Amino acid sequence: MKKVTIGVFGASRGMTMIEQTLGNPDAALVAICDKHVPLLDKCRKVAADKGIKVALFERFDDFFQCDMDAVVLANYASEHAPFAIRLLDSGRHVMSEVLTCSTLSEAVGLVEAVERSGKVYMYAENYCYFNTTFEMRQRYRRGDIGELMHAEGEYIHDCSSIWPQITYGERNHWRNTLYSTFYCTHSLGPILFSSGLRPVKVIGIETRNMPFMRALGTKAGTAGMEIVQLENGAMVKSIHGGLKREPGSINYQMYGSKGSMETDRWDGGNLHVYIEGERNCVGEHVKYVPEFTIKDAAGAGHGGGDFFTTYYFIRQVLGDEEARKNSIDVYTAVDMCLPGILAYRSIVNGNAPQKVPNLRNTGERDACRGDTFCTVPEIAGSMFVPNNIYDTEEIPDSVYEMVREKWVKGLPG
Ligand SMILES: NC(=O)c1ccc[n+]([C@@H]2O[C@H](COP(=O)([O-])OP(=O)(O)OC[C@H]3O[C@@H](n4cnc5c(N)ncnc54)[C@H](O)[C@@H]3O)[C@@H](O)[C@H]2O)c1
Repeated sequence: MKKVTIGVFGASRGMTMIEQTLGNPDAALVAICDKHVPLLDKCRKVAADKGIKVALFERFDDFFQCDMDAVVLANYASEHAPFAIRLLDSGRHVMSEVLTCSTLSEAVGLVEAVERSGKVYMYAENYCYFNTTFEMRQRYRRGDIGELMHAEGEYIHDCSSIWPQITYGERNHWRNTLYSTFYCTHSLGPILFSSGLRPVKVIGIETRNMPFMRALGTKAGTAGMEIVQLENGAMVKSIHGGLKREPGSINYQMYGSKGSMETDRWDGGNLHVYIEGERNCVGEHVKYVPEFTIKDAAGAGHGGGDFFTTYYFIRQVLGDEEARKNSIDVYTAVDMCLPGILAYRSIVNGNAPQKVPNLRNTGERDACRGDTFCTVPEIAGSMFVPNNIYDTEEIPDSVYEMVREKWVKGLPG
């Protein structure tokens, strides 16, 4: 069978997908694009070690001309949708890193590009594919805990020590310009993927922009929270950002009408399940380590999740129905992302509740088409809002110079 030819755009996080593609017998890595030349040098060495030839590009427009079936987007988190739309329109399948899109307008454009192209769009929300979260999905779908009433998703990651390495001292790096509730799909995604339920309403709330992050160049609230209502009335608390906890916390809980499931806060890999019996409040609790559904995932990054996203993407392109069922399509991808955008709209409007549109319905799209509300001036145009609601004073250039120097010298933040 012909291998799926793949290009990777962005070679920092993209190196993970490069390695997963190289390890996949159904795929051939043919091209990589990154404007940062040292990363291309690293890619050249990886390809040489494998004895394969990969075309390397600094400019996206040159990469775009390359003959390839599919592209993995691992470029800036705020720029995925426009590149995805261009690639889908050129007949390429697309897998996108987090996040899906930056505005409601981009969400509509993306959904319609997928529909128009008929190509595969896969959202690489790897936190949905831990041994624990994927098990929660299977058990929820089997009805083990009844109907969802409440869920919590937590992605606590204090990035202050690595801020120089992930923002390079660039004032306009997306990690500096985006807002507290933007990066919401690691916490919210697994809840939506497991339950299959759609968000209908969101309220946002955030912490202040804490001095330890402001000193590194970001004005955003340091942690953000989305309170989400799902289509069946269930409540969800999705929390993420830089709270002081080491190691960081990745944690999920689902409470249903017949029981509950939760991942272990300290011993990752464990799942706790409580199932009620015939009588109210009487049931059984088990704790176990779920097995990966595909053994090759063991050892892959992010608790095995980094294996499944690329694997299911490639299998889907090859027409594997099982892979399609286990993948995150464009509708679920925007369901995961829009609550974060709308939570920030809630924050700037005194925490007022916001309706989450269902972009499966063509009738709900027109109201979103011109909605460019966000914190990136070039994307937002007249709907620009600052990424800080408490303190709008500019951060001096000297801060970015200091962070850049730390990056160059390999020092922590
Ligand atoms: N799922 C996860 O666990 C996970 C982990 C880390 C990062 N990410 C995601 O991966 C993406 C990339 O993040 P990152 O950590 O690599 O940092 P980053 O966003 O700083 O890196 C992006 C890379 O893309 C390159 N790039 C961007 N635009 C380009 C252009 N127009 N032309 C050429 N090169 C371009 C940059 O040079 C850079 O090397 C983001 O979307 C981020 O959210 C996901």
